[in-house]
Parts: sequence; structure tokens; C-alpha cells
Amino acid sequence: MIVHDEQNGLFTLHTKNTTYQMKVDKYNILLHTYYGPRLGDADLSRLIRYADRGFSPNPGEAGHCRTYSLDTLPQEYSTSGAGDFRLPSLELELPDGSHVTELRYTGFRRVEGKYVIEGLPAFFGDGGETLVLLLEDAAAKVAVELCYGVFEDYDLITRAARIINLGPETIEICRAASLCLDFPAADMDYISFNGRHAMERCMDRSPLRPGVQSVGSVRGTSSHQHNPFVMLCSRDAGEEHGLCYGAMLLYSGNFEAGVERSQFETCRLVMGINPYHFRYSIRPGKGFTTPEAALVFSNCGFGNMSRQFHRAIMEHLRRDNRPGRKPVLVNSWEAAYFDFDSEKLLELAGQAAELGIELFVLDDGWFGRRNSDLGGLGDWWVNREKLPGGLEALVPKINALGMEFGLWIEPEMVSEDSELYRQHPDWVLCTPGREPVRGRSQLVLDFTREEVRDHIYREISRVLSSANISYLKWDMNRSLTQVWSAGLPAQRQGEVYHRYVLGVYELLERFHRDYPGILIEGCSGGGGRFDAGMLYYTPQIWCSDNTDAIDRLSIQYGTSFAYPPCTMGAHVSAVPNEINRRSTPLETRGTVAMAGVFGYEMDLCKTSPEEREIIARQICRYKEWWDLVEQGDYYRLSTPGEAFTAWAHISRDKRRALVSLVTGPTHAAPPFMNLRISGLEPGLNYRINGAESFPGDLLMYAGYPLPLLLGDYQSMQLYMEAE
Ligand code: GLA
Repeated sequence: MIVHDEQNGLFTLHTKNTTYQMKVDKYNILLHTYYGPRLGDADLSRLIRYADRGFSPNPGEAGHCRTYSLDTLPQEYSTSGAGDFRLPSLELELPDGSHVTELRYTGFRRVEGKYVIEGLPAFFGDGGETLVLLLEDAAAKVAVELCYGVFEDYDLITRAARIINLGPETIEICRAASLCLDFPAADMDYISFNGRHAMERCMDRSPLRPGVQSVGSVRGTSSHQHNPFVMLCSRDAGEEHGLCYGAMLLYSGNFEAGVERSQFETCRLVMGINPYHFRYSIRPGKGFTTPEAALVFSNCGFGNMSRQFHRAIMEHLRRDNRPGRKPVLVNSWEAAYFDFDSEKLLELAGQAAELGIELFVLDDGWFGRRNSDLGGLGDWWVNREKLPGGLEALVPKINALGMEFGLWIEPEMVSEDSELYRQHPDWVLCTPGREPVRGRSQLVLDFTREEVRDHIYREISRVLSSANISYLKWDMNRSLTQVWSAGLPAQRQGEVYHRYVLGVYELLERFHRDYPGILIEGCSGGGGRFDAGMLYYTPQIWCSDNTDAIDRLSIQYGTSFAYPPCTMGAHVSAVPNEINRRSTPLETRGTVAMAGVFGYEMDLCKTSPEEREIIARQICRYKEWWDLVEQGDYYRLSTPGEAFTAWAHISRDKRRALVSLVTGPTHAAPPFMNLRISGLEPGLNYRINGAESFPGDLLMYAGYPLPLLLGDYQSMQLYMEAE
């Protein structure tokens, strides 16, 4: 609900459990007065106190009043150069060379439904309401529209800013954040999700220290190293208690999320496109819209915050053109790498079909002269040496086994050893006069250019139309370097990083629109582009190249803070694991993969009859329980790294649940432990695995008595149904 109190200059946004308030003050400066547990419509600016603070300057309107300073007041959208020395949200370079922006409130608009952002991902849907606040810097002739989307039932508030040039000359944007959030106190922890290739999104929590702490990416993608989702929480906050704020950026390129603990123990979170090599020209009369940011506040811990984000993503962001159960898949990568022919693939598919697998995914190596990762990218035609009859011959045979067929592509890339590169060497991002910087021996296509995207679209379309293809894995296997486009003049090269992302979104949108029957899974060397922006186009993302069940516990745990299980591609692979050489029981690998979009990534022809029996059983179980993982609520029951890691998927009506648990390395004579299962209904009785039944309150507050699980990395699945 959006409430406007004209008399007091207040804008109050209410969701079911939260309130967010702004105030236009006597100088028409837009202050941020509150974000937290739901309150009434009272004027919360009474919480703001004024004092003469040394070296905190006073804006023109305040004259010689030394107690009024932008340096100490909570701002809704901070600017540079006019007396607020904390993190700026907006920094412009004006035609006279100055970097000063002074925004003043000029009006507002209320719009039915949720705003949309052309060319960028955004939450959508009927449930949303929009408030647009209009600000202006009259001297600079610049307007800023702050857009707010309110999704009451999800406690979700979205934001984006539009910067408009009202003057006669071009202006340059050096920084334009999507979100600025000022807090009256800094006694909070900052939580971010960090890692590396094959070890993404491991949670890190630390108290705010004086100055700025930030995470971000300058790799051209959101990255394996840091995720565009961060949290601030009270020092005591945990899974089920305490205050916490989650902030997510719907963006797949360079980002920055900085928090500043100020001299007066306030703090500010600013999140948006990373200002590194970002400079965007806006011509007279034109505008620039930032990516969207989304906020959820929870006053009962992390779990509730995550479930609100999950539901919002599932119902108002992820455009799933294959709603319902996703086919259980087998992917050829870890089974065959580049070394296969039709016969090998059909053998693999035959084994898979017998086990109940429903989708066969042909990974890298099917196109051009792609026999290793040294060549072939960009040549999107079938390699007839490996697949003599092409997909036209292969796919019907796979379909005849009762399986769907899926294909891997990496549209943004080109190998130097390819027909495409030989024909269009200028189609890559590369600074003239330099040796190209290679990553995985490949170069990045200049997706800022329409003709490049059009070409790739045509080539891949031809393949998609040649056979019955129902799934695409869209990969992206390197970071951007030498970011320079032959399509833009020197003074506009600062637009390339962002235009690249817009180009990727544009092409994804075309495939989404033109091939509604195809399910697209995102991937970037595993989870190098696992962000809310991508989820708008690809309803699921390959979570990590690391398929080791134990490492996956941390990766999937970290990922689950923002993103729902139904978005995480998770597969069972062979042991010892390719990435870390660890061996875990097949049952455990199944338990962990079932916490996401389930599949296999191994040579099924090399499995023993006992293993095949286990696999067939896993697939049956998944087919029975899938809706809990796909649509249920997710509860983290422990943190990884303890004696065990446990989690639960619980149906919305709380009548069914799947609880999973994996133990760590074994020890002699372990203690008995009880597993407390939150999220159940205390008054219901749950029958567990068709045997004994337990009262909900007992399971929630006293716990389920765990058997002694001896041996390294054992696992357990408890399927519960209310009687
Ligand atoms: C990336 C992906 C893998 C696989 C390979 C193929 O690393 O994450 O799953 O598709 O590329 O080259």
C-alpha cells in the first residue's frame, strides 16, 4: 500500500509486515525516515535529530544554519559534490565539467500496477503498485525519477532510478545506483556471498567497521567471486530471529554493493552498476534507467527473508515456460567431454531411458570443429564427423527412447580457430593494436552490436529449427577484458560493459519469445552468472561446476539465501569427483542433487547393477517429491560444516515435507542428536517414510531422534505426510 500524506510531505510504503517511509522536508530534500517492522502512518522524521557537526557543510537553502547538513541527514538518493561525503548514488559530469548534483523534490506519480524497465529484467505482476518520485536539479537541468514497486504479500519493495537530461547539451553519468538505503545505526553485520570458480556463494558475515566495505564485480558478469545479493542484519540475527534486510540487484554485469559506517554510527547501503569504466552519455531529452534492485525486510530472521524472496522470484520474476515438473535430465559433459559420436551418445541415452531419465542434454563439442576447448566457438553448425546425420538423425532416435533432447550453446563467445572469427575478426571485444587477452582460449563477441547478435540468433535458430529441441544450456565461460567496441566512438567506450549486458538480455529475450517450448538453463562455468537478472530469462541456472556433494552443501546453502531451490541446477556425478577427488556415497549425491533441479552428469554405461538400482530409486523418489522442491517453502535447518547439514522443503499447506540431512566425516562413538524441524504445523501428526508418526510440535521443538549414521558423508531423507 502506498500512502501519501501531503500535509507532512510523507510517502509511506506498507507491505504486509514492513513499512518504508520518505519525507520531503522544508527544503524539498527527500529524506529517508524509516525501513523496518510495519508501523502506522506517523511522521517518522521525528527520529531525525539535528546538530552542528564540524566539517559537515550546509546547502544553499539552509543559509548559515549549521545544524542542517546533507552529510548527516538520511538521504533517499545521495548525490555527489554538494556536501554529503558518504557513498553517492548519483554522480554526473555536467557540460561545464562539474560533478555537482543537488536534487530537490518536484512531484510524484502513482501508477497502477508495477512499472516495467525496457530492456532490463524486473519483477512483474498484478500484485504490484508503483510510486514514482520526481526530483530535479534545476541548475544542471537534470531530472531523476525514483521508481518504487510494492509487492505487499511478499514484503518486497523494488526500486530503480531514471535519469533524464532536460538541458540542451549532453551530460555524462559516472555513477547511477539502483538503491540507496540509509540506516540510523551501524551496529549491524554485513553478509555477502563470495567464492571462486567451482566454489561459489559461500556466506561471509562480519560486523560493519568504520568506512566502506564493498563487494562487486568488474568482470563483465555478476561473477563467481561475489554475488549481487547482500544482507544487513542485527548482530544477534539468525535463521529464525533478529532483524535482517536483503538487497538484490537484478543485473548480470559489473555491480557494486557498498556499505558505509559513518562517523556518527549511521550506515548506508548503495547498490548498482559498478562505476569502474562506466560512463554513459545522455543526449538532450533522453534518459537512462538503472537496473532494478529489490529489498525484503524480515524481523524474524534469515529464513523468513529467504522465503519471501523465493516466492517473489517464483511468482513474479522467473518466466518459466515449462511450469510443473522439469524432466529429469542426464548431461553428457562429465560422461564424454569432447570425445563422443552418435553411437556413444545413443548408448548413454539408452541407459538413461531405462533408468527413468527423461531429457538427454548434449553438452559442449557438437558443433564446428570443436574437439577441444581450443576452437570451434561461433560456428553453430553440427559437426558431421561426430554426428554424421546431424541432429536431424540423432534427435528422433533419442525421442524414440522416450526422451526429450537438449543442447549446450555458448552464444557470446568465439574461438580464434573458427570460421566466424576468420570472417569477422572485428566482432570481438578487444582494444585495437593489442594482442588479445584470452580466457579459456576464447574471445568475447561484441554483443553491444546488433549485427553480431543478429548473426548469432540466425545461426542458433537454424539449429533449433532443425530438430525437436526442448532445452538449451546457455553457457558463458570467461570474464570480459579489453572492453572496447568498434561500434562506439572513443568518448562512449564507458558504455560498453553495460551495453554488453543489454545485448545479452536482448538476445535471451528473443529466444524466450520465439521458442516458448524451450526451457533455457543459464550457466557461466557453473554459477558465474547466478543472479536475479538472469532468472528473468532462464528459470534455472547450473549452480556450480562443482558437483561434489559436500562442497555443494555450502554452495547450495549460500545460494538459497536469495534464490529458490527450483532455480538451482543440481546433478549427481561420478566419484571420485572430477573437481576435488572426494568420494561420497551415491545415496548422498542423490540427496544433495534433489535439493535443486535434479539430474545426472555421469557415464551411466559405467555404473554397476547395484548403482543402477539406486539411481532408478532416486529418480522414482524425485518424481514423487518434486513439487516440494519446486514449489514448497525452504527451511535451512543447520549451517554446513557442523556434524550434519540439514534442510527441509515444506508444502505451502504444511501437510507434506521432505527433510534431508548429510553428515560430515565420521568419528567414533558419536553423540545422539535430535534434529529440530522448523516450518511444520505444531498441531499436525506427521507419518515419516510411511512408518512411525510424530506430532509436529515434537519435531519442531524437541526434534526428530537421529539414528547413529556411521561412515563418512552419510545421508538421510525423511518424507513426511500429515495424517
Ligand atoms: C562450462 C560449464 C560445464 C560444461 C562446460 C563445457 O564449464 O559450466 O557444465 O558445459 O563449460 O565446455
